[in-house]
Amino acid sequence: MTTQDDLRPILTTESGAPVADNQNTETAGVGGPALIQDQLLFEKLAHFNRERIPERVVHARGAGAYGTFTVTADVTAYTRAAFLSEVGKQTETFLRFSTVAGNLGAADAVRDPRGFALKFYTEEGNYDLVGNNTPVFFIKDAIKFPDFIHTQKRDPYTGSQEADNVWDFWGLSPESTHQVTWLFGDRGIPATYRHMNGYGSHTYQWQNEAGEYFWVKYHFKTDQGIRNLTQSEANRLAGEDPDSHQRDLREAIERGEFPRWTVQVQIMPAADAAEYRFNPFDLTKVWPHADYPPIEIGTLELNRNPDNIFAEVEQSVFSPAHFVPGIGPSPDKMLQGRLFAYADAHRYRVGINADHLPVNRPHATEARTNSRDGHLYDGRHGRQKNYEPNTFGGPAQIGRPLWSAVPVAGATGNHVAPSHAEDDDFGQAGALYRLMSADEQQRLIAGLAGFIAKVSADRDDIVERAVENFRKADADYGRRLDEAVRELRKQR
Ligand code: HEM
Repeated sequence: MTTQDDLRPILTTESGAPVADNQNTETAGVGGPALIQDQLLFEKLAHFNRERIPERVVHARGAGAYGTFTVTADVTAYTRAAFLSEVGKQTETFLRFSTVAGNLGAADAVRDPRGFALKFYTEEGNYDLVGNNTPVFFIKDAIKFPDFIHTQKRDPYTGSQEADNVWDFWGLSPESTHQVTWLFGDRGIPATYRHMNGYGSHTYQWQNEAGEYFWVKYHFKTDQGIRNLTQSEANRLAGEDPDSHQRDLREAIERGEFPRWTVQVQIMPAADAAEYRFNPFDLTKVWPHADYPPIEIGTLELNRNPDNIFAEVEQSVFSPAHFVPGIGPSPDKMLQGRLFAYADAHRYRVGINADHLPVNRPHATEARTNSRDGHLYDGRHGRQKNYEPNTFGGPAQIGRPLWSAVPVAGATGNHVAPSHAEDDDFGQAGALYRLMSADEQQRLIAGLAGFIAKVSADRDDIVERAVENFRKADADYGRRLDEAVRELRKQR
């Protein structure tokens, strides 16, 4: 009679030889020490020791899914990107959501921006839009990013996030006031990854077939509706189900409830940029919709879960420098720094052949480079020549820039970004505060005050600087915050 065990395939070692015994280590005699000839024991222990790769230095905690982007409007007047060339055209995508500050095992239900990293597998190569669920950011120059993140992560001495560090940095960085107001508002803790918007955040360039160019901002509006958690709901959920967002996304897709976003862009003709009332390349500012109304261009649906989290989510890599013809960078100083940072992180975190992995490589075309070898190279190029130019039919350049050149002026130097008529660090933060309902303002003040009040008792100067920024945004905002912080610090 055939038993269940007879139907099982043979367990093997990494080299494919049958395993004789997977339960008992080979020893010298009964009860004696282990033998070095037990290849299986060493192979298993050694592989296990090497299972982890470095977690992402930010956005370590995340979840991803594959999906489909569908074009719903003719945007050929603005960009020649092939995947946007026709209404109804569909492109495969992979989206990784994340929190920013927490480590790999951190809880999902926390107050933190959410990453919204989207890869379009286009026929002209992969286009990565590595955004967040917020349209703005805390700082506007990449040179400050490591300092900023150090204040969000663990203190070198205490090993914990410290209110002193966070508020010291934010108080000294008034440009953060807008994003901090956003973060402590109701949208600061989304209920799930499905119930939040995504934003490209930076300004990007689109170039049409005629060579004209435009500045664009991307918005992904959730079709599920916005849903948030209050701080106390989040505190409870983070304890009860640390994986809440990841679980929600996977289960919704398993149920066939595919989450969708309506994709919109704001488009600014290149000629408007110099005189626009805000510096259009300043990541701490939005373009008010009255100035540049968002127009719908497509839909994004997530419809397939990854089969293997490590292979497809942990090893997935996204780079803001992954452009396709017709789309390019803007001079935003944050974006410019990011154009370097991501691929560098991938080389360290995943390795030099990260872009060859199934989740990362182009799906609708193939990569044809003369780069070769390195750790874990799979030999995909076979006998092909590995240099260029060559007379053996190797791949050739197209001879046309992917995006438009932009005019620049002046001398090199560590310049402050140009200030436009209405640029300051507080105007848009105050406007956001005044847009909030009375209840939301109340929750905003309570959340901020609760955190600011944690600053060390002998560092009132840090508290003062922090509150002063909100006062400059809106006098009422500052006054109420000041009172709430004083009250809480009295009670300490
Ligand atoms: C100069 C500023 C910034 C620098 C230097 C920077 C750097 C990094 C680095 C090194 C990673 C890890 C990449 C990896 O290991 O694969 C990362 C991840 C990420 N960053 Fe940034 N970042 C910056 C600003 C931003 C901004 C402004 C946004 C959003 C608008 C953003 C969104 C993300 C997202 C979504 C991820 C996770 C990508 C993924 O899911 O793999 N970052 N960042």
